[in-house]
Amino acid sequence: MPVITNIDDLKRIHRRRVPKMFYDYCESGSWSEQTFRENTSDFDQIYLRQRVAIDMANRSTRTQMIGQDVAMPVALAPVGLTGMQSADGEIKAARAAEKFGVPYCLSTMSICSIEDVAENTSKPFWMQVYTLRDDDFMKRLFDRAKAAKCSAAVITVDLQLLGQRHKDLKNGLTAPPKLTPKSVANLATKVRWGLEMLQTERRTFRNIIGHAQNVTNPRSLTEWTAQSFDQSLNWDRIREFRRMWDGPLIIKGIIDPRDALEACNVGADAIVVSNHGGRQLDGALSSIRALEPILDAVGDKIEVHLDSGIRSGQDVLKAVAMGAKGVWIGRAYVYGLGAMGEAGVTKALEVIHKELDMSMALCGHRDVNTVDRDILMVPKGFSGEWG
Ligand code: GLV
Repeated sequence: MPVITNIDDLKRIHRRRVPKMFYDYCESGSWSEQTFRENTSDFDQIYLRQRVAIDMANRSTRTQMIGQDVAMPVALAPVGLTGMQSADGEIKAARAAEKFGVPYCLSTMSICSIEDVAENTSKPFWMQVYTLRDDDFMKRLFDRAKAAKCSAAVITVDLQLLGQRHKDLKNGLTAPPKLTPKSVANLATKVRWGLEMLQTERRTFRNIIGHAQNVTNPRSLTEWTAQSFDQSLNWDRIREFRRMWDGPLIIKGIIDPRDALEACNVGADAIVVSNHGGRQLDGALSSIRALEPILDAVGDKIEVHLDSGIRSGQDVLKAVAMGAKGVWIGRAYVYGLGAMGEAGVTKALEVIHKELDMSMALCGHRDVNTVDRDILMVPKGFSGEWG
């Protein structure tokens, strides 16, 4: 096993070990992938201000996200099909998160169900909810999240329709994988992945199949999602969801200050500045560029988090210094999961934690809660006026 020192190391192993259609699903942006690329490259335009001869002993990255204690300001984002990256992937990721002391958020489009994760973990996790037209399904989803003692609901508002990812269409993505000569040839090279998959019965969308009417197999699921995602979603409908859930509510997928203000008006507790990892509107601003105007608009009305583009502790530090209360990582932990299962997710968290801790120290801070914009050098116009 090579020495793993950064997230890219995990990504290389993930690529080797996981069937192409699932690696590609993780590693895609929509259409030309401009936003997907800029989510990461825009972080590189921000510089950190090095300080010296400042006491850096006894450091802490502990803080809070939506009032919950976290070991560092990082949550594991909801990722569809996580259980196809590694058998029982959602359970493995949730366990790694709970041991590390950071929140785990389960996707509606997960392979393991809410109940599977609740039965196999001991701390509350967050539940992500897609907005579907089927009222019954929605009510039951919130009820199931309550029964599982989820400590927050996360409504994703940027996926009323699915951005096109060319690779998924070309690969014929399904869960479980459809067997074609091409996919079989690729699956045959992923022996460890296949053997582990054979040992679990969790190989399709268990939050949906058996819970939504008229969905009995993965192929009808594709049709069902295309028909069921609520293209007429509006803020009144989100208010109805607010009434269905009395715990902390997070709205994810905000990139414009006007939408951030709407989220404040519906009584959300936090928003996630996010362009869905560059998987929805190609050509949208990167999250890190969108962050400051949103912070300026909402002031202290709501807690602001950020996802899309975080691949290192330096990225976490930059987002937090700019004013995010915390960040969410998706691909960064999925690479670890595909590479090494639960141990790989733990490794991803360790890598990011170490980078955050040391970079914070080299900027002259011992406590992540004291980090502020003073440590950043941001190019003029980075988040500036747009025509
Ligand atoms: C779903 O959340 C996706 O981005 O594929």
